[in-house]
Amino acid sequence: MHTPVLLNEAIEYLNVKRDGIYFDCTAGGGGHSEAIASLLSEKGVLVMIDMDKEAVLRVEKRLAKFNCKKFFVHENFAKVKEIAEKLGFAGKVDGILADLGTSMFQLKDFDRGFSFMGEGSLDMRMDREESLTAEKVVNSYGERELADVFYKYGEERLSRKIARMIVEERKHEPITTTKQLADIAFKAYGGRRGKIHPATKIFQAIRIEVNRELENLETFLKSSIEILKKGGRLVVISFHSLEDRIVKNFFRDKAKKCICPESQMRCTCGGNNAVVKVLTKKVVKPSEEEIKNNPASRSARLRVCEKVV
Ligand SMILES: C[S@@+](CC[C@H](N)C(=O)[O-])C[C@H]1O[C@@H](n2cnc3c(N)ncnc32)[C@H](O)[C@@H]1O
Repeated sequence: MHTPVLLNEAIEYLNVKRDGIYFDCTAGGGGHSEAIASLLSEKGVLVMIDMDKEAVLRVEKRLAKFNCKKFFVHENFAKVKEIAEKLGFAGKVDGILADLGTSMFQLKDFDRGFSFMGEGSLDMRMDREESLTAEKVVNSYGERELADVFYKYGEERLSRKIARMIVEERKHEPITTTKQLADIAFKAYGGRRGKIHPATKIFQAIRIEVNRELENLETFLKSSIEILKKGGRLVVISFHSLEDRIVKNFFRDKAKKCICPESQMRCTCGGNNAVVKVLTKKVVKPSEEEIKNNPASRSARLRVCEKVV
């Protein structure tokens, strides 16, 4: 089971109207979708997207009992604009939710390779129809390329050392399991465990690379704003600083009234260019109680903006 994170906060910020049109772009286990659907009338619309086919099938079953108009879409949320256009909802959407990252279903299925808590194959694809796997990254990227991925997407302090050790190891035999990879990180840290497992950051980095997570997020944010109607809201829950930074900066830029170059002394753009208003001046974090009940929510950060044009 996947416990939805910041559920009340997300639903409150979505401000669900009974007959409104809503997109849950990371349907996952269907927790947020179910909460939205329970507030919609028969005329209300809920589009549920996930790039993991198993998630889409799971949510379809879970939401069967609801009478709103439901659409289940197996697709990358980077395509949200195309999806909205195809369904005839572009420019009419009242609320969009993205709860980024992986679900418990994905993490607990060791064979999908997202977790180093058990042995599984090095896969890490959220969409199993894509061709790039973690195994390909680990066994075919050059040492420099690997180090860059670990540094850029994992902020891994030992990026070069771990990359070197991987390249050494794969000369003997290919690295095909999560355990083999986790053991290398463990060795790189001299067998010591700090607050987090030594493999945490490289697993995050490879997952981001395999699923092109940051590029998809950027495209998703831009497209979401385009399909919202005036007054429509975009709610994003992220789980690490790289994602949260992208969301924060995007909202800030879109909320700017003046878009003149910074070097310009006087405003000539009219100062009326804000596309959104940021509703979360301070990022929303889970309460201590939520963290106690669901430790996986610990790093969640929620930000919301409302379209104003
Ligand atoms: C944290 S889970 C969402 C859980 C869900 N909110 C719930 O309450 O059960 C994230 C989900 O987003 C999906 N996902 C991640 N990136 C995606 C993308 N670019 N496009 C579509 N789905 C994506 C994952 O496959 C996963 O199922």
